[in-house]
Formats: sequence, structure tokens, C-alpha cells
Amino acid sequence: MNVDGKHFRTIWMNENDERIIEIIDQRHLPHRFVIEQLTTVDQVAVAIKDMHVRGAGLIGATAGYGMYVAALTTETNVSGAKFMEQMAVDGEKLKATRPTAVNLQWAVERQLAAMAAAGDDLSAKIAAAKQTAIDIADEDSDWCRRIGEHGVAIIEEISKAKNGDTVNILTHCNAGWLAFVDYGSATAPMYAAHDKGIKIHVWVDETRPRNQGARLTAWELGQHGVPHTVIADNVGGHLMQHGQVDMVITGTDRTTYTGDVGNKIGTYLKALAANDNGVPFYTALPSSTFDWTMRDGVKEVPIEQRDATEVRTIQGLHEGEIKQVLLTPQDSPAANYAFDITPARLVTGLITERGICDASEDSILGLYPEKK
Ligand code: MRU
Repeated sequence: MNVDGKHFRTIWMNENDERIIEIIDQRHLPHRFVIEQLTTVDQVAVAIKDMHVRGAGLIGATAGYGMYVAALTTETNVSGAKFMEQMAVDGEKLKATRPTAVNLQWAVERQLAAMAAAGDDLSAKIAAAKQTAIDIADEDSDWCRRIGEHGVAIIEEISKAKNGDTVNILTHCNAGWLAFVDYGSATAPMYAAHDKGIKIHVWVDETRPRNQGARLTAWELGQHGVPHTVIADNVGGHLMQHGQVDMVITGTDRTTYTGDVGNKIGTYLKALAANDNGVPFYTALPSSTFDWTMRDGVKEVPIEQRDATEVRTIQGLHEGEIKQVLLTPQDSPAANYAFDITPARLVTGLITERGICDASEDSILGLYPEKK
């Protein structure tokens, strides 16, 4: 997507030196646009853990490039078996950075399989890792674009039912292009609708504690010219009661093959309010975000607990400088659960790169029969 009129992805290889991976360091947005260079697997692990990059698809793509960097920087004279042992260690290091987004382990496993299949020659393994990293990123972008093509039909239908009046869409957290390589999942149908001239307006939940909605979703919608309004996290239910939300679209960090949606903390409450008010609640995801092994989201999806500092403090711009200030009494403890599960029964539909399905095992496996 565009930043001040110039096209960017969220991650890419340096055009002059392909051993350098470049990312948009999202910790500084929306106030500063900073590009960071990564050349070691340890730097990549820190970038994921400390959320220089975040969001399911981008975490997966970064892990893909992280394994390529790991392959590049191993000793040159190791045997094939020793090399794969080192890759497994580096893969575990990356997987340990963030527990909830399933794209992370999916990308690491895909890289390990690609390198294992590439024969014993070290340069062939490195070439396989590079190509796989590129493939993961390209696929992510392509899948999100296709999510947009499928999802726009739902928005178009609502628009027609409203005789062309503005369609009000509520979203939570950031499942935009900043959470993927390009386009985003939840935002892809919004961008597609806006580009088609369908009138939309997006309610952007601020999304405490890290405020990915207020900081990131608002910024990227603004860059694309999509009308939007940032709201405090607890406003959605009120808006729904007053007919000001036509649909909800969220992203997800892990969705079970039975349709339970793991997403940023607070999503479940939005789904309950949507259900109570008859507002359709959609989740958009590429197939890399399905967990094909998990049946019961509440019991099985690991929920990341992050540092309490994120709850106790808030970051913003003050007199030209990004500052972090204390919100709570100095000694009050805080808890920081980063994700929750929205049970399938509250989800109207899943928008995937293959089309739209119900949040049920039968319907999901109908779209992905090879996973049966
Ligand atoms: O903690 P984050 O920022 O990595 O969380 C991810 C998210 O932004 C959301 O949960 C998002 O809706 C799903 S990721 C596409």
C-alpha cells in the first residue's frame, strides 16, 4: 500500500544487498516512519518479540526471512545434518518469540521442510530458504488481495440494501496491511470497496493496551483516504444499539478448523455485542492462519501474556517527541492478556482467499478439502 504516495510492503530485501532484510519499525507509527535493517536471526527474533513488526501474516513473513538470514549466517563449512540442527535451533528461537499467531510456526516449519528437501549442498539450502521467504511474502500479499475481492461483495450487498448510503464497518486492532505484507486481511475488503467507489466509513477501536487501532489502523486508512473515526474500546456496543454499525470485520491470529477465532483482546466482547444487536460479525484470514490441529479455541489456543508495562503506561507524541507516561498508581499491579477467543457460534462468516465460508468445521473443510 502507499505511504505518502509511494508503494511499500511491510518487509523486503534490500535492493542492493539481499542479505539485508528491511522492515517498517511499527513502534514509531503514526508519528515517525522508520525503516530498520535486520541481518541476524537474533535481530529478527527481537523485532518480532518487541513488536517492531506484528500481526499474524507479517509475523509469519518475518519468520520466513528470519530463517533465510539464519541460513546465510551459519558457518560455511558445516555438513548438511549439522546445518539442519542449527536451523532447528534458530527455528525454535523464532517460534518462542510470540505464542499466539500460528503463522509463526507455520512459516518456520515450511522453511525447515524446504531446506531439508534441498539436498546436502549448503548453497542450495540457502537458495531454497531465500526462495521460500520470498514465496511466503508474495503468497501473503496475494491471499490478502483475494480476501479483498471476496469480502467486497458483502459490503456491496449492504450498500445496495442501504440504497448507496454509507456502510459503517467496525474493526478491532490492526488487521491491515501493516499486519501482513500488503493489503491486510480485515482491511482488504474495505480498501477494495473504497477503490470501487462504494461509500464506507470505518469505526476504529483504539485497542488498548498497545493501541494498534488508534496508531496503526487509523494511520493506514488515512494514508489510503478511507473515511474513519477512532473510538475508545468500549464504544462499539453503544453504536450497535443505535444502528450505527452495519457490519464488523476483524482479523485473527489463529482460527481453529472448527471456526473459533483467536484475536486481539476485546474481540470477544465486540462479537457478543454484535450478536445481541443482529450485526453481522466477519473475520478475514488467509489459510496460513488456520490451525488445522486445534478443535476448541478456548481450551487450546495459547494466549500470550505480555509485560504489564503496556497496561500501566501509554505512548504518544509530546512537543515533537515520542514519550511514554504512567497511567496507573505507581504500585498497582496490572495484567496484560493479549488475545481472546470468539467462539464460532458468534461468527457470521470467514472471509478467506478461497471465498467466504461459515465458521464451522464442515464449511471450512469444504473450502480446504485437502486438510480433511
Ligand atoms: O499483538 P499483535 O499486534 O501482533 O496482534 C495482532 C493483531 O493486530 C490483531 O490481533 C489482528 O486483528 C490479527 S493479526 C492479522
